[in-house]
Amino acid sequence: MKYNHPVILAIETSCDETAAAIVCQGKVASNVVSTQAIHAQYGGVVPELASRAHDQLLIPVVRKAIQEANITLSELDAIAFTQGPGLLGALLVGASFAKSTAFALDIPLIAVHHMRAHILANFIEAPYPTFPLLGLTASGGHTQLVLVKDHLNMEVIGQTQDDAVGEAFDKIGKLMGLPYPAGPHIDQHAQQGDPVRFSFPSTHVSQLNFSFSGIKTAFLYFLQKHQAKDSQFVAKYRADLCASIQHTLISMLLDKLKQAVTQTGIKTMAIAGGVAANSGLRKQLRQFSEQEGWQVFIPKLAYCTDNAAMVAVTAHYQYMAGDFCDLQVNAKPRMPF
Ligand code: KG4
Ligand code: ZN
Repeated sequence: MKYNHPVILAIETSCDETAAAIVCQGKVASNVVSTQAIHAQYGGVVPELASRAHDQLLIPVVRKAIQEANITLSELDAIAFTQGPGLLGALLVGASFAKSTAFALDIPLIAVHHMRAHILANFIEAPYPTFPLLGLTASGGHTQLVLVKDHLNMEVIGQTQDDAVGEAFDKIGKLMGLPYPAGPHIDQHAQQGDPVRFSFPSTHVSQLNFSFSGIKTAFLYFLQKHQAKDSQFVAKYRADLCASIQHTLISMLLDKLKQAVTQTGIKTMAIAGGVAANSGLRKQLRQFSEQEGWQVFIPKLAYCTDNAAMVAVTAHYQYMAGDFCDLQVNAKPRMPF
């Protein structure tokens, strides 16, 4: 046998990334992601266009993943797909493809939870975190704190009540005229700015939950007030505005993470999602590691944002546990943990 089995093909189509990956015995043999460029001109993901683009891109992406892993379809032991949460139309494209392929090849089908996969992105490449750990997923669609007991045993202990933190970055950036997605642009401008030049009221919510919609509204009123006096306000203070809003959003995340450490006594954390790319967040996490003895794990950037390698690795653990689904399974846009 040429490959280490199980060999699993995983499909990810929950939002605007069309992705496929192959794992052989839990190790990534290929990982292909095609980011749908079409949404940038609309300032956000257009669900209908995302579904159409997945439909067009999925076969070429899968073909490339198979070629790069240098396998043939007959060597696959299972097919995995993201069942949810995500955009219904987008998820359906991946689910239909995975079900048809599993049916045609007569191999098991594995339904993967997108948020669990984000956390297990920390198990794609060594060094791996040890259990129990605290997972923080921070992206354009999600902000959650998760107590992770092992690869398959996870419990949400806090989550956003409204917008996700990445969504806040994107919406606030849009107010400043930055291109979509604005998160990386805010991060870039923030590096030349003063993080305490402006202050914004962060919303306090109970327990380990988050809220990011209030700060977006506060920022809008703040800009309107200043722009009424000076139409060049944003242009003059862009770096300070970006640094200050980034500082506020990151502090809101870190305050809850600190609270979770106090409550659980767990100091090992696995960060995931697109916002994990933020340089301000990474810097502060490094400081906490040194000062508080936290052990912080952040996957490399390509594994932080939506990808199929994380789905494939999650599927590997489900395969080993015999967690398969039947071919009647459906996509779940609001899939509970
Ligand atoms: O995980 P992801 O690729 O897709 C999902 O939303 O599931 O995350 C994308 C989000 C966007 O909101 C984007 O603005 C944000 O991650 N993001 C960042 C940075 N890079 C990406 N936010 C802040 N700083 C960054 N460097
Ligand atoms: Zn995601």
